[in-house]
Amino acid sequence: MKLFDVYPLYDVTPVAAQGIEVTDDNGQKYLDFYGGHAVISIGHTHPHYVSSLKEQLDKIGFYSNSIQNPLQRKMANKLGELSGCNDYSLFLCNSGAEANENALKMASFHTGKSKVIAFKNGFHGRTSAAVAATDNPSINAPLNQQQEVSFVALNDFEAFQNTIEGDSFCAVILEPIQGVGGLDEPTTEFFQFVAEKCKEHQVVLIADEVQSGFGRSGKFFAYQHHNIQPDIITIAKGMGNGFPVGGVLIHDSFKASYGLLGTTFGGNHLACAAVLAVLDVMEQEALVQNADALGHYVKSKTSELPEIKNVKGRGLMIGLEFDFEVAALRKALIHNQHMFTGGAKNKNLLRILPALNITKDHIDLLFEGLKKELS
Ligand SMILES: Cc1ncc(COP(=O)(O)O)c(C=O)c1O
Repeated sequence: MKLFDVYPLYDVTPVAAQGIEVTDDNGQKYLDFYGGHAVISIGHTHPHYVSSLKEQLDKIGFYSNSIQNPLQRKMANKLGELSGCNDYSLFLCNSGAEANENALKMASFHTGKSKVIAFKNGFHGRTSAAVAATDNPSINAPLNQQQEVSFVALNDFEAFQNTIEGDSFCAVILEPIQGVGGLDEPTTEFFQFVAEKCKEHQVVLIADEVQSGFGRSGKFFAYQHHNIQPDIITIAKGMGNGFPVGGVLIHDSFKASYGLLGTTFGGNHLACAAVLAVLDVMEQEALVQNADALGHYVKSKTSELPEIKNVKGRGLMIGLEFDFEVAALRKALIHNQHMFTGGAKNKNLLRILPALNITKDHIDLLFEGLKKELS
């Protein structure tokens, strides 16, 4: 059987990885400044992560959500402690899209309404309501277009106010730092305005932290840079360091009832072991602090490269903007410098999304590679 051909592929076949290094089938090593799309948070094959998963697999890997699974509670407690979100409850699922789908569904259950406000250039996943709230008509099938979503430009106070006052909505969904779109973010004033208007109109505020969460921005959650409190927070990517897992943090003001949400695989024993190992390492290696410090270091290095016209993002979620399209540069970085980097919808933007435990030496190597390719 052939594979359904939806991905344009680089000609690289990774067969092993450790820390920030990925090795291909010819033994060539690459530095991974992309983290498999912001997924690798504590580094590839971290020894604590590997032993936790192996030990868990030897005990029990999976059972459905119809039995007691104390690992879920242990993980939720640790997540609450490290994120400061103790007044939320956790629903576990398997991906970022699924997290957003459930978040939007909760907003709709809670308010009895169905329309959504989302933002231009936003990305929330490829499932029904999540893709409808994504600003990309090419991945929105006629089926998804049945959802009613109003798109507003980021930081456009007037457009947001007119929209939220002009109709009746269940949710506003917002990435605190846009990932796929190209690292644009709401200003603190705009984010606070959105939160205030949501409260005033009883609209649920969803922070999509699928990419920006779990320490990547230099705080546990990126919305925490702005002194606001979302009603719902969605997580995935770095949460499992490659194990497919997602989650929805739902404020305690929302009422749960049996059967309201559900999933077969979400929160299984192996997923919990993976997330617990990620949280252990984040705490032991102070990765939120490291992401913050190295984000500043990356920004300080950009002055060495006049070709970089603009720097976006926070922590280790950084976009380097050039005045040319970066596709050829990314290819050259892979093949000549053996470095993985990311692209974005903004074709002039190079995305840097490495594991949160990289060092200044790695960043220096990235800039040396960039200099060689740009000279
Ligand atoms: C902000 C954001 N939300 C949601 C998603 C969807 O996550 P997944 O691909 O795990 O469904 C992504 C994926 O890139 C994302 O960046």
